[in-house]
Amino acid sequence: MTAVLETQNLSLQFGGVNALSDLSVPIERGALHAIIGPNGAGKTSFFNCLTGYYRPTSGVVRFEGTEITGLNAAKVAALGIRRTFQNIRVFPKMSVLENVLAGGHLRATSNLFAITFAGPRFRHTERQLRDEALASLEFVGLVEQANNLAGDLPYGMRKRMELARVLIAQPVVVLLDEPAAGVSSVERAELSSVIRRVHELGTCVVMIEHDVDLVMEIASEVTVLDNGRVIASGRPQDVRTNPDVIRAYMGRQRQ
Ligand SMILES: Nc1ncnc2c1ncn2[C@@H]1O[C@H](COP(=O)(O)OP(=O)(O)O)[C@@H](O)[C@H]1O
Ligand SMILES: [Mg+2]
Repeated sequence: MTAVLETQNLSLQFGGVNALSDLSVPIERGALHAIIGPNGAGKTSFFNCLTGYYRPTSGVVRFEGTEITGLNAAKVAALGIRRTFQNIRVFPKMSVLENVLAGGHLRATSNLFAITFAGPRFRHTERQLRDEALASLEFVGLVEQANNLAGDLPYGMRKRMELARVLIAQPVVVLLDEPAAGVSSVERAELSSVIRRVHELGTCVVMIEHDVDLVMEIASEVTVLDNGRVIASGRPQDVRTNPDVIRAYMGRQRQ
């Protein structure tokens, strides 16, 4: 297996605080890779370093074997590395369809290549983008809501809309920051089925998730962070029984 996205000795400091310490994490091409750990463990900071929102203090980020450390967020997105945010980002006064279209302006590398070198004939027309946005909405089960105001959607559906916005870019890797946090169990089932299908269709998925049962059900690989360090990694069933993990994460969760 080869890593599509990986960090080597990645560290991030804020003042004197070590948010991330020496993280070497390979994300394999075919993985549905879950990142878990208690609040403040560094999970979102890790995503921020992978996606160009934070510049690591030291260490390296590689995509497809090429170093991308320090590239800004727009450039990282244009490579086909797309993310959602822990705190939902929605344009409430725009329709669901328009929200999804907002994710389509930056295409993955292969498409950028086509646009740049194959000439205007291959440019995506507004019509094509619209069709793709509708296809993304269909994929997440929201096509009926396409013309509704995004602000009127229930929370769980907004989470699915964010997924559609990421998928329209045909990403190579998607990073989902707590995609099922705060949603009902019905919505959680919907979201997990969509995430699973994204993965089955060949997109590498990296997912921060608090719901251990969900992680155990769908992840192929789990990395556990605590205090900015990797304390365990491996297959879900192995990680679940790791005493360090039980102590750091699951133990604390039961309190
Ligand atoms: N922009 C920032 N400025 C200062 N400290 C930060 C910033 N972002 C994250 N941190 C700190 O880094 C640590 C990890 O936070 P975070 O990555 O959000 O954890 P998690 O997502 O696992 O809950 C925390 O101690 C947090 O306070
Ligand atoms: Mg977080």
